[in-house]
Amino acid sequence: MSGWLKELEAAIAAARKAAEVAIRMQPEVVAETKADNSPVTQADRECERLIEGILNETFPGDGVLGEEGARAESRNGRKWIVDPIDGTRDFVRGNPLSANLIALEADGEVVAGVVNLPMLGKLYAASRGGGAYCNNVPIRASAKTSIDESVLCFNRFDKLKFFRNPERVLEWMGRFWSARGLGGAPDAMMVASGLAELWIEPSAATWDFAPLKVILEEAGARYFNFDGGSSIYAGNCIACAPGLESEVRRMLVTAN
Ligand code: IPD
Ligand code: CA
Ligand code: CA
Repeated sequence: MSGWLKELEAAIAAARKAAEVAIRMQPEVVAETKADNSPVTQADRECERLIEGILNETFPGDGVLGEEGARAESRNGRKWIVDPIDGTRDFVRGNPLSANLIALEADGEVVAGVVNLPMLGKLYAASRGGGAYCNNVPIRASAKTSIDESVLCFNRFDKLKFFRNPERVLEWMGRFWSARGLGGAPDAMMVASGLAELWIEPSAATWDFAPLKVILEEAGARYFNFDGGSSIYAGNCIACAPGLESEVRRMLVTAN
């Protein structure tokens, strides 16, 4: 798995430990509401502290950016990006779709990423140049080229307002072979594994995207933003099978 093996191993260990804590706390969790109206629990904060501690101890000098407030300035161009529990709505409801997300950015590029879906028994990992894996088995994006054979993943209808022309997009979405919406991380991992062909996330944060990007790209999927760029800081993301890229860009990229 390329030159980032030590980093991936630490991130995998941290994600697995966070999952143990989250699963232990889940039956008792009480959701609070954050300023952005999303839920947060004591388990989110505890998991972030645990992940941050492991990363700090293993890689002193690296920066940290965590959803629940973890911050450390980088002294070496490297920064860990952490979403301790992604899918807190699922977590508080007991749906087995929440994830632990950890990524390493080095000199402005995501070079390693882990998506742990503990309740589905799936751990996805990738490093730049090292390929993408689910439970240590290589994964590959789908070879489909037509939307009428493709699975679309979209999971928040309140986010239709972020499209330039929602009615046109909805009509186009209706032409897919099938549609599923399990939440950002599981949806993106379906695209990375060749089980779905398109995932659209019109509005989310850097920590929702960071590990997904390297896993998708290493699996051969395409990752881009509504403005045509390819950033984890753009606040949105489109991931698709390579054979759908030109149609998806035509439909969704505002710059075109
Ligand atoms: C959420 C998930 C979800 C996305 C939301 C995010 P959280 O993260 O990634 O898929 O639609 O925008 O806020 O808050 O559960 O970590
Ligand atoms: Ca998240
Ligand atoms: Ca979260």
